Amino acid sequence: MTTKQQEIVRTTFDMLAEHEDRVADLLYQELFRLEPRSRELFRGNLPEQQKKLMRMLRIAVENVGDPTQLQPMLYNLGMIHQSYGIEPHHFISFGSALLHALRVVLKEKFTKEVEEAWHTAYHYFILTMSNFPHSDDPVQLPHN
Ligand code: HEM
Repeated sequence: MTTKQQEIVRTTFDMLAEHEDRVADLLYQELFRLEPRSRELFRGNLPEQQKKLMRMLRIAVENVGDPTQLQPMLYNLGMIHQSYGIEPHHFISFGSALLHALRVVLKEKFTKEVEEAWHTAYHYFILTMSNFPHSDDPVQLPHN
């Protein structure tokens, strides 16, 4: 991921600050359209979950240029998601749903360049989440 792409991801996420609930609503609507059965995986309070997701995304985006900080968090997040039964196809649909939500909210600001930057960032997030090492000492997630 280039420095410019990191910058694009940060600045576009900042533009969403006032629309985070809408982004999360659109994301989950699209996810459940693409993967109806994934609805059953969410057993807790969905609005609360949406807030946790957006907080975690913010942390990931803010640290996108700092793998020393970000990697342990993503490993831990990946371990948790494995325990929920999340599979690779879920990650793919979730990524499409995220890009869909960004496209709707950012409108004309969602250029090809922005799309590529987000695609690359999301790919990095899920690749790291999927490749966590086994550890007895997981880090605490900061979104809680
Ligand atoms: C970059 C991608 C993702 C991020 C940043 C993310 C973030 C989070 C966070 C922060 C939590 C809360 C964990 C806690 O309470 O400690 C969570 C829970 C959860 N996530 Fe994700 N997630 C991602 C991808 C996915 C995908 C692809 C799925 C499946 C379609 C998924 C399904 C879930 C479920 C089922 C829970 C538990 C919700 C509940 O307790 O009701 N997540 N996620």
